[in-house]
Amino acid sequence: MSNNRVSRRQFLNYTLTGVGGFMAAGMLMPMLRFAVDPVLQKHEGGDYIPTDLKVADITEEPTRVDFTFEQVDAWYTSDVTNSAWVYRDGDQIVALSPVCKHLGCTVNWAGSEEHPHEFYCPCHGGRYEKNGQNVKGTPPLGPLDEYQVKEQDGLLYIGQTRPNTLV
Ligand code: FES
Repeated sequence: MSNNRVSRRQFLNYTLTGVGGFMAAGMLMPMLRFAVDPVLQKHEGGDYIPTDLKVADITEEPTRVDFTFEQVDAWYTSDVTNSAWVYRDGDQIVALSPVCKHLGCTVNWAGSEEHPHEFYCPCHGGRYEKNGQNVKGTPPLGPLDEYQVKEQDGLLYIGQTRPNTLV
């Protein structure tokens, strides 16, 4: 017989440690997966959201278009409504973000009687030209962002924002 015999005490220690480890892993894995799963989920980038607006109805006058999408924030899902100022510029459909580049208020087309052909931010008097270019001498230091757009089945679809390509 070898001198490396395992004592009854050692055998029980090894066995209980092994079984305990399996049980702990069995309990921890689902918790770990629950904690990190939302982070590991694959999220589609560049999705377009349908609006009710027919492309044929878009005019040269900027019109506010609201669109709603489902936002998943980790375990919480909610409906979010955003808006865009949409108009036609020749063959191109333009959709500008209404978020003022000063401090984030919402701009309105023709929001000021003194400047009826501009976007106007009521918070601090920020002004933008029709293409989103900020008017020098007013608080915003950059142009309005632009949404990516596409037409599908005659309707306007709105995608992600990007830096203004019109100015
Ligand atoms: S937030 Fe628009 S001008 Fe200040």
